Order: sequence, then C-alpha cells, then structure tokens
Amino acid sequence: MNIRIEKGIAEKYSSELLLLFAFESPDPLEGPVQKVDQAWNGFISTLIQQNDFKGELYQCRLIHTQGVLPAKRVVLTGLGRKEEFDLERWRGAASKAGQFVREIGMKQMICPIPSFQNYSTDALADGLVTGILLGTYQFNEFKTLDRDKMKSIEELILLGETEEALSKIRQGVHLAKIVSDAVCMARDLANAPSNEMTPHALAEKAKEIAHQEGLRIQVFDLAEVEKMGMGAFVAVAKGSQEPAQFIVLEYQQGEPLGTIVLVGKGITFDSGGISIKPSERMEQMKADMSGAAAVLGTMQAVAKLQLPLHLVGIIPATENLPSGKAYKPGDILKTLSGQTVEVISTDAEGRLILADALTYSLRYQPKVIIDLATLTGACVIALGDYVIGLFGNDETLIRKLEEASIKTGEKVWRLPLWEEYFEYIKSDVADFKNVGTRAAGAIIGAIFLEKFVKKVPWVHLDIAGPAFLEKEKPYIPKGGTGVGVRLLVQLLRDWSRPNSSDHTPSSK
Ligand code: BES
Ligand code: ZN
Ligand code: ZN
Repeated sequence: MNIRIEKGIAEKYSSELLLLFAFESPDPLEGPVQKVDQAWNGFISTLIQQNDFKGELYQCRLIHTQGVLPAKRVVLTGLGRKEEFDLERWRGAASKAGQFVREIGMKQMICPIPSFQNYSTDALADGLVTGILLGTYQFNEFKTLDRDKMKSIEELILLGETEEALSKIRQGVHLAKIVSDAVCMARDLANAPSNEMTPHALAEKAKEIAHQEGLRIQVFDLAEVEKMGMGAFVAVAKGSQEPAQFIVLEYQQGEPLGTIVLVGKGITFDSGGISIKPSERMEQMKADMSGAAAVLGTMQAVAKLQLPLHLVGIIPATENLPSGKAYKPGDILKTLSGQTVEVISTDAEGRLILADALTYSLRYQPKVIIDLATLTGACVIALGDYVIGLFGNDETLIRKLEEASIKTGEKVWRLPLWEEYFEYIKSDVADFKNVGTRAAGAIIGAIFLEKFVKKVPWVHLDIAGPAFLEKEKPYIPKGGTGVGVRLLVQLLRDWSRPNSSDHTPSSK
C-alpha cells in the first residue's frame, strides 16, 4: 500500500472515498469529521440522532454523498465510547475501516488525521497507519486460483491542515511503516510452510536483511557448532535432513551504552521428534520459529530507524524430527555451558537449542539478554492467545518491558521464577532434566533457561499463545502474528533515548 501525506481539508478534498471516525453519543463528532458534517448540512449528525449510525466500536458504514461534498463516498467508522478510547482501540478501528474499504472493492482512501484531546498528531498518525497496515495483511503467496478476484487497497492519502500537523504526521507515518513492514515480514516467515521456510531459507532471509540494512552476519553450520561444543543444539538438529543453521546478526550505530542480545527460537518445524506430537494441529508447528521471526523483524526495524544501539540477534535454526539419527529420551547432552541435560522428552527441544544460544550470547558480555520462544503449550493454557508470558531475573528490565507492552498493546504477564521450581528439573543422572511436571510447565521451561544466562539481566518471553492465531483479533489476522516485534522496537526506542519525556508516537 502506497501512503502519501498531503496538505488538505477533508470537506474540500475531492476523492472517491473519505474515511472518517465518530464516537458514540453524546459527543460523537470531534475534529475533521465535525467540519465535514457542517459542510454536509449536518447529515452525519442526523444519522446519529436517528440511530442509523451509533458509533459503536468497529461499526463501519458506507454513505454516498450525492454531490454535496467533493468526496464521492464516506466510510464512517465507530470508535465506541469516548471515555474508553485509547490507542489500542484506535489501531483496531483503523484496521476495521481498512478491511471494510478493501471488502467493498475500493482501491484508494483519504483520511484526515483527527485531533483528539490528549493525543498527539504523530501518535494518531502512527496508530492509524499501524492499524491499517497490520489489519489488512494477507498471506496469499501460495494461492493460485482466482487471483484476479483478490482485493487490496493500493493507496492511502493522509491529510493534515497545517505545516506543523504535516510534520507530525510524517514522523508518525515513518515509524508506523517501518515497524509494520517488519511485523508483516515476521508474519510472512511464520506463515510460510516448513517445506519452504527451512533453516537454510531462514538464514538466507537473515542474509538478505543484513545486506539491505548493513548488518554484520555470521551463519554457522552443524559441523561448526558441534566443534564449538553446542551439544544440545546439535542433538535436536541430528534427526533432520535439512541442514541446521546458527545465525548471528550484529547491528551497531552511534555510541551505545552496552550490548543488547536478542535470542529467538528457530524451530522451522516441531514434530516433537521421537516423543512425537499428536497429529491434531501439528501443521501449526511450522510457526515454531516465531521467536526467530521476531528477532529478524526487530533487527530490520531498528536498523531502518537507525537507533543508537549495539544489538546482537542470535537464532538457532533447525527442524525437530524423528529418524534413525534423532536424539532420544534418556540421552544425556553436554551443553555449550558444560552443564549436562538428561532428555526426558524430545518435544522439549526449544529450551535445548536456546540453552546453547544463551550461553553463546554471553561472549558479547551483554548488558541484557532477551529471548523469545514459542516454548510451552502450558503457557497457552495459563494465559491464552493474547498474552506473552514474561519471566526474568532483573526488575528494571522487566519493568521496561512492561512499559513497552502498555504502549504497544502487545500484552505481557509476569510469571514467577522462584528457586523452588528448580526441584522439578533435577536429574538423577545429569545436572538437569529437560522436562519437569505438567503442572507449572511454562515456569519450568523458563527455570531451565535461567540456568544458562549466569547472572546477566535477562527476560524470557514465551510467545506460544500469541504467535499464531486460529481466530483473528482487531488488527491481527489469523495465522502468524509477528508478535514481539512491536514490543521490542518500543523497548529499544525507549532504551536509546532514556531521558526523553515521552511524547512519542506510540504513547499519548
Ligand atoms: N513448540 C512447542 C510449544 C508450543 C505448543 C508452541 C503449542 C505453540 C503452541 C514446544 O517445543 C513443546 O512441544 N513443548 C512441550 C514441552 C513439554 C514436553 C515439557 C509442550 O508444551 O508440550
Ligand atoms: Zn516441542
Ligand atoms: Zn517447539
């Protein structure tokens, strides 16, 4: 979708379709929509008074202007009750408007950026564009039938009335485009089937990003990581015919205060291995590399935004399959850290590959480590599909993620990492087992990972629930979601300008 910004006034702007927003009564019209209403002889007010448009959240209505306005059509979208309005609802309403416009087959829409009290113009422009770009995302690459019937919006024109507004709109749009493109790229990676999105393909994608954004990249093959001593990663990779890849990306700009490492689980297909999964929904395990996708998306966005940071992205990528060469329950693995692990289930493979990746990350003497992983079904049971499970050993870092979460709407919920839980993964024959009890499964997964970060400030994000949706959310279509990208980019933007009083596009 092409996005243009123009100086203009909604009621005077000639177009095929004008997009406007209204609250529920008693105070429905504010900003540009109010002026359009006046120029339209109070037509919108009449609709509202007669209860023909209630302004309910996400309600959309198409109205022909019959030549009274220079715009031929208006799409009016509800924002719900004014006192409940926030940027999350705004992004959702923008998405619903975009989906509605697409479904009626229109190719272009014009939208004046509103001015709601307490919200800056850049934040509203950012929210609008984010909602529209993320809400109208489609994964059609593999559909060959009826391609000519597929609908998409080609152009969005944003209107601002003053030079000051236009400059704010430009800022918001710049940010929203970079971040939303990165989210959509991560969604594409998760939605791509595992016969296409192999570890090698993931590494190629990482190289492409590195090349485009000027990042340093290293990709190690199985023989190289075996030599390094990554016994856990190698064990998981052994059962697959697809060559495993250990991907390291590095970005540096300005004079940052310390190194931040992001680690993403890159299982391109998780069958469970010898401890094979039930076949029901196994196809969704193509998205078991969503942590890796989030790391790649974040690195891409950070580079495009040129944030002053030293950021390292680490992705252990492999399939988890059963075969005559596969690792087995009862095997004892020697991890890169030197610590040993007794395999109880080969389906708890994420923590094994992450253990070696986390140990590897310590080479960078990081100030903080953040890992993202579709780690446990237990986290989905505990928190559902719209919340990320958050674990960590450092209160300051945890608080920063919680703040970024509130700004982006990518919800996190903290779970404990008390030492008592370690009892569950003590092994009779090795240092740890890779599985404890079914009870507290998400916490036990995190406790296992903690054994590999020494004392470095670290957060683990279990994204098993929100990484892949069976039912859409307001601005997240079904399938791979790209979750984590917006959260991390917000965190890193805040990180790179710690003293700025926060009038940023993603907050009020
Ligand atoms: N990739 C799965 C976790 C998962 C489950 C992600 C559902 C997304 C949706 C992970 O590798 C796994 O299989 N975990 C096991 C751990 C268990 C054996 C301790 C699980 O959750 O059952
Ligand atoms: Zn598994
Ligand atoms: Zn897995």
